[in-house]
Amino acid sequence: METTPSHTIGLGEESSIWFKLTPLLRGDPENPMRILMHMMDRYGPVLPVNMANQRVVLISEPEYFKHVLVTKVDNYVKYFDGLKPIFGKSMITNDGVLWQKIRMPQQPAFHPDMFAEYIPYFLKAIDTKMALWGDLAKSGETVEMVEQTWTLAADMICKALFDRNMPFNPHVVFKCVKTYTDVMNHRDIRLRKQAGEVFEMTEENAAKAMEVWASVPPAVIGAHPREERERTLLKMIQDAVDDPSVPEFDAAQAVDELKQYLWAGTETTALTLAWALYETSRRPEAAERIRREGEEVYGDREPTAADYSGLVYTRAVIQETMRIYPPIWGLIRVAVGEDEIGGVKINPGDRVTLFAYAAHHNPKFWPEPESFQPERWMAGNAKKQVKYSYIPFGGGKRSCIGGAMSQVENTLALSLLLRRFRPEYVGTDPARLNATVTLTPKGGLPFKIRELG
Ligand code: HEM
Repeated sequence: METTPSHTIGLGEESSIWFKLTPLLRGDPENPMRILMHMMDRYGPVLPVNMANQRVVLISEPEYFKHVLVTKVDNYVKYFDGLKPIFGKSMITNDGVLWQKIRMPQQPAFHPDMFAEYIPYFLKAIDTKMALWGDLAKSGETVEMVEQTWTLAADMICKALFDRNMPFNPHVVFKCVKTYTDVMNHRDIRLRKQAGEVFEMTEENAAKAMEVWASVPPAVIGAHPREERERTLLKMIQDAVDDPSVPEFDAAQAVDELKQYLWAGTETTALTLAWALYETSRRPEAAERIRREGEEVYGDREPTAADYSGLVYTRAVIQETMRIYPPIWGLIRVAVGEDEIGGVKINPGDRVTLFAYAAHHNPKFWPEPESFQPERWMAGNAKKQVKYSYIPFGGGKRSCIGGAMSQVENTLALSLLLRRFRPEYVGTDPARLNATVTLTPKGGLPFKIRELG
């Protein structure tokens, strides 16, 4: 008798919100976000939509984001159906006391004081990438930028947080994760299931992808430490497993925590850097300003933690990139009890979706919202922003644990890569968007790498 591989459970199921949202996201081949934004312009900032017996409530106003993320946070729990194989039962998927118990031992790894310790490892990963780009510049071949930045981000995490050289082929892992998180694949699988197909390639591919994914954390844990460092996130996780006062944090939990970091910390950071390279490729003056800033701040030596604060414009480019292309375009929660938001009744079980992209592109909060203006983040301008109108890292107690660290990674990477190279975007203009679990470029971001003379 055939059994469904455990890796595919939840994949393409009707209950998955990613599947439910798919029909709404079709219809605008350039930017699926626009359809949702038009709907909200027309019907208001709290929009209940009934989809296949499931009520989904879309929200686009900052004050209601705060309501869900802070004021009534305990009424809105995490939602991860369909994504369990990616995250397992890691902290990002948990709530309440259990979430707290799992987060607490890991939190010190993300204190800003740790960044100075991590920077040399970020730089090593960037160096490796630059050596590769040197070869790509010679060969002249076209590369997919998200894959390039994904492999860089994975390397930075492995070196800085785990004290490991990547004990896996990041290109293979990248492709596997992509296979799984593309909502269109889920839909395809469901339609095939409905048609009674017993065996189909897509599902097999997705299952295979998840097998590869499941093999990554044990490979990281089993690999040789690079330097036997005492203070790493991996060590903190292993100490938590050994701590009898937290029995919930067992060996299986440790494996899932690693999965979470290798996805949440890699995919989002990589997308941001890839979109930043896309924007700066179309704006030579911005790329030039980044180069000049790097020359002035750290010149010919390696940048340090102190230099990071001096890279004001480069960091602003990263912040503006996350405004225009928030990697997590929608944050999803499930309502536990009854509530009311903006005059709309919320019922237990409703899927409440905080539509970050809509707030980031609302002219009420961002003059000329479609225009890329890093200056919004400079010279005190950020102070004028409306609270919760910018939530690339979420908000409240469940906000991103690695957000500040990712800005260090991406600011340094952007600065160093642009000082040596002129990455040239060679795809459709403008690039098209695809709303998967993250906001990705449809068909990727093809680039040619040129070395500066
Ligand atoms: C540009 C980079 C990043 C973006 C845009 C981003 C975005 C987010 C968002 C929006 C959330 C909250 C999701 C929700 O409330 O539903 C989140 C949570 C999380 N992120 Fe990030 N993230 C980034 C980088 C990182 C990095 C570098 C790491 C770690 C290495 C990381 C690890 C996590 C974890 C563990 C959580 C769950 C926290 C919790 O539930 O307590 N992220 N991220």
